[in-house]
Amino acid sequence: MKIMLTGANGQLGSCLQDLAANSDVFSIIATDYQELDVTNEQAVSEFVGNAQPDIIVNAAAHTAVDKAQTEIELATAINAKGPEYLANAAREVGIPTIHVSTDYVFDGTASTPYLPTHPAKPLGVYGETKWQGEEAVRNALAEHIIIRTAWVFSEYGNNFVKTMLRLGGEREALGVIADQYGCPTYAGDLAAAILHCCAQIKGGKTAWGSYHHCGDLPTSWHGFTRAILAEGLAQGKLANAAKLNAIKTEDYPLPAPRPAYSVMDCGSMFDAWGVGASDWRRALSRVVAKL
Ligand SMILES: NC(=O)c1ccc[n+]([C@@H]2O[C@H](COP(=O)([O-])OP(=O)(O)OC[C@H]3O[C@@H](n4cnc5c(N)ncnc54)[C@H](OP(=O)(O)O)[C@@H]3O)[C@@H](O)[C@H]2O)c1
Repeated sequence: MKIMLTGANGQLGSCLQDLAANSDVFSIIATDYQELDVTNEQAVSEFVGNAQPDIIVNAAAHTAVDKAQTEIELATAINAKGPEYLANAAREVGIPTIHVSTDYVFDGTASTPYLPTHPAKPLGVYGETKWQGEEAVRNALAEHIIIRTAWVFSEYGNNFVKTMLRLGGEREALGVIADQYGCPTYAGDLAAAILHCCAQIKGGKTAWGSYHHCGDLPTSWHGFTRAILAEGLAQGKLANAAKLNAIKTEDYPLPAPRPAYSVMDCGSMFDAWGVGASDWRRALSRVVAKL
C-alpha cells in the first residue's frame, strides 16, 4: 500500500516512516515542506496526481501553539487550507485520507472524557485553525478518517519529555502546571494506530469519520513531569532530579489559552478500528531509553 505522508520530518511523520520501513505492506512517499508545501494548492494537486498513492496521511501542521496566536495567516494556511487542498486532491484521484487533529479543538470545560461528537469550541488560534482543517476535510471528502490526539511526545523533535528531562537535570526546583489534565500520547503508538487503519482500509473497511486516539491514563503536566523525571532517574539519564512544585495555570501565563481538561474518550476508535488508548507510561520508558 502506497502511503503519501506529509509532515514526514515531524514527530508523527518520523515514527510513521520508522514503522513502515520495517513493513512489507506499506511504502511511504515521504514529504515535508521542502518536497511539498501543503499550503500550495496547485503543487498539492500535481504531487498527488503524479505520485498516485493509495492513501494520504496528513501529519503536517503548525504546532507552535503560542506562536500561532500571532502567526494567524501561516497557521491558517498550514492547519486549515493544507488539509482542504489535500482532501480535494485525494477526491480528484479517488483515494481516502487520514488527517490528524488535536484535543485543542475543545475548550476544556467538560468534566468527563470528550467524545468525538462533542461540540468543538477552540480557545486559541492553533485549535481554531485545526478545527477549520477538520471541517474542510469533512466537507471535501467522504472517505476520510480524522484522528484527534493530544500531548504528543517521542524521541524526535522538541517536545515536553525532552524539555523536562533537560530542565529536571539542570535546575534545583521546577514549577509545573498541575491544574490542566490530558492524556500524553507516544507518536509511535499513534503511528501504529494509523497504519492499523490503513491496513484495514486496504482490506476494504470503510468506517469513515472522526475519532480520538491518545494515551490511556489522564494526568496533569505536573503528573507527567513526575513520571518523566522518575524514568530519567531510574534509567540513569539523570543524576539528580529537580524538586517538583505544583503550580497553577495563572502562575505561568502563556500567549495561548489551554484547555484545563482535554481528556478524550477513545472508545469509538476501538469499536470501529480495534485500536484502544495507548499505554503512555510504557512508551515513555522506551522513549527515555532512546534519548
Ligand atoms: N505535538 C503535539 O503535542 C500534538 C498534540 C495534539 C495534536 N497534534 C497533531 O498531531 C499531528 C502531528 O504532530 P507532530 O507533533 O508530529 O508535529 P510536528 O512535529 O510539529 O511536525 C509537523 C511537521 O509538519 C511540517 N510542516 C510545517 N509546515 C508545513 C507545510 N507548509 N507543508 C508541509 N509540511 C509542513 C513541519 O516542518 P517544520 O518543523 O520544518 O515546520 C513538521 O515537520 C499534527 O496534526 C498536530 O496538530 C500534535
